[in-house]
Amino acid sequence: MTAPLALGVAGLGTVGAGFLRLLAEQSEVMARRAGRPIQVVAVSARDRMRDRGTDISAFRWHDDPVALAADPAVAVVVELIGGADGVAKTVCETAIANGKPVVTANKALLAIHGADLAKRAEAAKVPLYFEAAVAGGVPIVKALREGLAGNSFRRVFGILNGTSNYILTQMQESGRDFQSVLDEAQGLGYAEADPSFDIDGVDAAHKLAILTSLAFNCPVDFSAVHVEGIRHVSALDIAFARELGYRIKLLAITQATANGIAQRVHPCMIDAESPIAHVDGVFNAVVAEGNFVDRTMFVGRGAGAGPTASAVAADIVDLAAARQAPPFGVPASKFGRFEAAPMDRHRGPYYVRLMVYDRPGVIADIAAVLRDERISIESLIQRGRAAPGQAVPVVMITHETEEAAMVKALEKIGHLATVCERPRMIRIEGL
Ligand code: HSE
Repeated sequence: MTAPLALGVAGLGTVGAGFLRLLAEQSEVMARRAGRPIQVVAVSARDRMRDRGTDISAFRWHDDPVALAADPAVAVVVELIGGADGVAKTVCETAIANGKPVVTANKALLAIHGADLAKRAEAAKVPLYFEAAVAGGVPIVKALREGLAGNSFRRVFGILNGTSNYILTQMQESGRDFQSVLDEAQGLGYAEADPSFDIDGVDAAHKLAILTSLAFNCPVDFSAVHVEGIRHVSALDIAFARELGYRIKLLAITQATANGIAQRVHPCMIDAESPIAHVDGVFNAVVAEGNFVDRTMFVGRGAGAGPTASAVAADIVDLAAARQAPPFGVPASKFGRFEAAPMDRHRGPYYVRLMVYDRPGVIADIAAVLRDERISIESLIQRGRAAPGQAVPVVMITHETEEAAMVKALEKIGHLATVCERPRMIRIEGL
């Protein structure tokens, strides 16, 4: 058998420790598949003494992960530290500069510096793999880069953040409001103490930027992603969605349009019968629409030690077997131009919820604004009567409308004296 592939693992948090446990259990299976043994030779983490449920005493210890990346005994650097900048970036750059392949789970790093890292890796002729960076255990990177390489993609979309999906699912099932579900999720350890990356859509946007590059062979451009999270989704909206035959999901969507590539992360109303509407809890899903394959859907756990370690291990087996592909499917020198479609050119139907005082003429005022912006209403619901001075919800579904007109109309409607809360809008996504 060929000599073992020597790994240096930087970062021994949930994913790093999970990866060491996977290797301890799966090393024979992986060696058979790779055609050579795989061995960890060095590790680095913040705290050497922490109990990780796995014995690290046999590995060379580095206090400094950058020193691990430069260690001549290490052939492949596995970066599991995280973070867009700082030491994780230096570790990857150092590994590449030393001619070593890099495997990383770091979506933030790739979303911001992916194009640059890909260029460096190609110049150094070393692989840069990141299956674990998108949708955890779901092998979507390999699927887009290799399994579906014969297709041109119309659209790739998915549920890319398990925390948000868990919260929305709980809201749907319990009828409770966002904050109470978030508080409970934090108490149970399902949501981070600072959950903003997850619930404000940033984590999903990082992953989407990577998927866009893989699907459309353009440089990763996180700055072009329109990002909205789920903080403003209310129990009332969830209830109306159900009544209208929809489910609310935080979707990440990348799509080729006449205006360029549209990348957006925002809550969507989707047909309650669509397969992705049934992807609940912490699960992730990605749907890729290719011109020959048609629609394919990938579902699985998007986070956690086991699923993420599974994705890291797949990259390691590829490296050990000397299977190579450009990081984003085509060499960085062959990236196509990236034209970002502006969000205000987005077109689609909209769900709009207003809280209005129940007086004669209210609907006429709202309708006048919509008429002025040439927005056509498909249906309108007003339920119940409110006492004087109290508000009732009015819900409208529009026909296909341009975002710019919708934004302008909502701004004007929000200033009407009879409208007592900021209007809420959720885009309806045809799937
Ligand atoms: N925090 C992410 C999630 C997983 O909730 O899906 C890591 O990106």
